[in-house]
Amino acid sequence: MAEFNLPQNSRLVAGKTWPKPAGAAKLTEFKVYRWSPDDTENPRTDTYFVDREDCGPMVLDALIWIKSKIDPTLTFRRSCREGICGSCAMNMDGKNGLACTTGIDECGSKGKVAIYPLPHMPVIKDLVPDLTQFYAQHASIEPWLQTTTPAPEKEW
Ligand code: FES
Repeated sequence: MAEFNLPQNSRLVAGKTWPKPAGAAKLTEFKVYRWSPDDTENPRTDTYFVDREDCGPMVLDALIWIKSKIDPTLTFRRSCREGICGSCAMNMDGKNGLACTTGIDECGSKGKVAIYPLPHMPVIKDLVPDLTQFYAQHASIEPWLQTTTPAPEKEW
């Protein structure tokens, strides 16, 4: 029987556990995937504790809170913060979704939330996937209204 193993440098290892914020009464634990192309270290999951009384209700709020209050090196995409652009898509507790429209309480089973980049895509850094293939496939199906009449000088 053939055996397949991940390359040694792709194995997920335990990461750093950051200190709990002082004086926080309501905490939620986040385990967040971290990987950087800038060093030779393996991917890891870092553990952060978010003060829920100082943070908004969505997973994206928690990531922004972590980035601004604990670890400015945490990397993720976001733009509209209202479920339009799709840039905050990631895997939360095993489900793919938008971090800006997913409540922390929706995915925090047992008081913990696991955050990973979208699966089946190369990772550029931390929670940022490489969307090159996605955009190539998207363009190949031309998912926009098509017409045989000449394009107008102004927008339709
Ligand atoms: Fe635009 Fe979440 S930030 S969909």
